[in-house]
Amino acid sequence: MPLPSQTRPALRLGFLASHGGSNMQAILDACQDGRLTAEPAVVISNNSESNALVRARRAGVPAYHLSANVHTDPEDLDAAILDVLDRHQVNLVILAGYMRLIGPKTIATYQRRILNIHPALLPSFGGKGLFGPAVHEAVLAAGDSVTGVTIHVVDEQFDSGPILAQVTVPVEKDDTTESLAARVLAQEHLLFVETLKRIERGELKLP
Ligand code: GRF
Repeated sequence: MPLPSQTRPALRLGFLASHGGSNMQAILDACQDGRLTAEPAVVISNNSESNALVRARRAGVPAYHLSANVHTDPEDLDAAILDVLDRHQVNLVILAGYMRLIGPKTIATYQRRILNIHPALLPSFGGKGLFGPAVHEAVLAAGDSVTGVTIHVVDEQFDSGPILAQVTVPVEKDDTTESLAARVLAQEHLLFVETLKRIERGELKLP
């Protein structure tokens, strides 16, 4: 039976994003308009030019650029990311289009507390190299009539870890990579917010 909400600590979200940050924005909007009670605590991007950083600053969320360009030793980068998450008292990490593996220290500290979104129905069309348009190209090349969105708990590898939520999206006959990507992305935004809602309500337990 789910615990009453007052006994669950409020979610403090730490985002990692590399590019556009539209998934992050969908969650920020839901926090802002009260659909979620979670608090956006911090945003980290490996890309100093990312729109995710622009969106974070616009929303008044502390934003950091942490990348292998500055922290050339992967252990240092892992420690720097962990330090920022810790300083902002993050209790749930959201990978919202983050194109890097998470370091072992961060994984160990936030075990079962890091979520990723993937624009296909994992375990199909996932893994190294399958990100961005390549995912939708692979779906179209396979001739599948259905694709979808997956939210999963993150482990040390790309796109693996227990699956928390999925939704299917139809592939239309005349789809291009772009049209399919746009239809999937719209569902990503909905599924991310819905999944966080279910976690907040205690309906969905992180495994
Ligand atoms: C999304 O398609 C997500 O599934 C994938 O990267 C993309 C990020 O898009 N992991 P955005 O930066 O949230 O707009």
